[in-house]
Amino acid sequence: MARGLQTRARHVARRATTTGGSHLNVERCALNSLPWTLSELNVFFIMRRAIYPGSFDPVTNGHLDVIERARKLFDEVIVAVAHNDEKQALFSLQERLDLLQETAAKIDNVRITQFDGLLVEFAAAQKATAVIRGLRAVSDFEFEFQMALMNRKLEASVETIFLMPKEEFTYLSSRLVKEIARLGGDVSSFLPPAVAKALGKKFAASKKK
Ligand code: PNS
Repeated sequence: MARGLQTRARHVARRATTTGGSHLNVERCALNSLPWTLSELNVFFIMRRAIYPGSFDPVTNGHLDVIERARKLFDEVIVAVAHNDEKQALFSLQERLDLLQETAAKIDNVRITQFDGLLVEFAAAQKATAVIRGLRAVSDFEFEFQMALMNRKLEASVETIFLMPKEEFTYLSSRLVKEIARLGGDVSSFLPPAVAKALGKKFAASKKK
């Protein structure tokens, strides 16, 4: 959409909102004075946004696969690293954010950020309609199911959507990758190169100590 047309569309939407506000008003105005249908305007004005939360300690190819899948369903995906995660992380919060920035942020309309406090409060503040979680195996299900239902109880407007990564990533987890790397195994096929390098450095540094 050319910039002039965008400005005009915004003006029409604002006029519709100040004169009663509903989507129907937007539709009427749009149909009367603009060459676009409501669904075309929706694409322009209403962003479908999802949050993909986690510890990302570190981000793996499995996470990136889930982000790609989520991007096909949502206009924007916010990858949110939990700040007050109780787990003892190997990478600092800043390192995890940097690695995500270097890998996931290359995907169109993916934003990297951190959050603390309740996930659903963060999701609502970001105007996200969904929380994305990767589901690898039945063993993930019990905890994920409990968390999804609890989150729904806390904030009914945010849905949890489970996405299954590619089969080759179903046995992949950050925890296993860290353990293999710590014991000197090759993890390069599970991680983006920048992450494999950072993990190698971490363990090389801890061996020297
Ligand atoms: O990658 P992880 O460790 O499985 O992610 C878990 C995470 C960070 C998504 C979860 O612990 C979380 O949502 N933490 C934020 C605090 C919160 O909202 N807790 C209530 C969950 S019902």
